[in-house]
Amino acid sequence: MTAQTWNAAGYDKNARFVTDLGAPVLELLAPMPGERILDVGCGDGVLTKRISEAGSQVVGLDSSPDFCIAARRLGLEILECNASDMRFERQFDAAFSNAALHWMKDADRVVGNIARALRPDGRFVAEMGGYQCVETIRNALVEELNRRGHDGASASPWYFPSPDQYRTHLSRAGFEIRYIELIPRPTPIPDMMGWLTTFAQCFTAVLPSEERRDYLESVQMHIRPRLCDRSGQWTADYTRLRFWAVLKDLTAAYEH
Ligand code: BEZ
Repeated sequence: MTAQTWNAAGYDKNARFVTDLGAPVLELLAPMPGERILDVGCGDGVLTKRISEAGSQVVGLDSSPDFCIAARRLGLEILECNASDMRFERQFDAAFSNAALHWMKDADRVVGNIARALRPDGRFVAEMGGYQCVETIRNALVEELNRRGHDGASASPWYFPSPDQYRTHLSRAGFEIRYIELIPRPTPIPDMMGWLTTFAQCFTAVLPSEERRDYLESVQMHIRPRLCDRSGQWTADYTRLRFWAVLKDLTAAYEH
């Protein structure tokens, strides 16, 4: 599978709603002055900055060089690193993540690394794409690749778990789950072709570059009857998995 690459300017144009809609999970985190907080998959740092404005000492982590440059421009402490490879030990009071964990298919490893990064009773508060998130779009991306002779399912970069599935990852790493909920959140999309270009790179990467535009136009044609209304307004079938968990078992993350 080809890795998704991020372009901060394209993200700002086509995906700003992702951070704009992050207010509820930020509220659930309730960052306090002086707390040390790790933002996993911090993207261009817009929400990381809000955490720092609450008086917390925040470290953002992202694997995208372009996002790291954009986040550092906001004056933030940012590490360019994959969450699967990070090696913090008992340094943070809380870990936070918005709209990033569904790009991390090795969930046990990522959640284990987050557990090791936290102090005893540290909290992990996050929101991610949940079960059946963008199901209509994902199915069309997969089926159109299959139709063109490729293995569409294996190109998908996303893991959209149910509450029970993520509960299992969290428990295995030593977390007690205080709250977890799957929330349907139909999301207006101003420009569907912009959305596909920004988020579906792992699918288009399978195709020769001259075929990509035609592929995305076919996908858009297939999803239009379900996701676009008569006035031309697109609404994507997003769901969110939002949770708050507390680290109780300090040895569990070392056992796998
Ligand atoms: C998100 O950022 O929440 C998202 C991105 C791609 C697919 C689904 C959700």
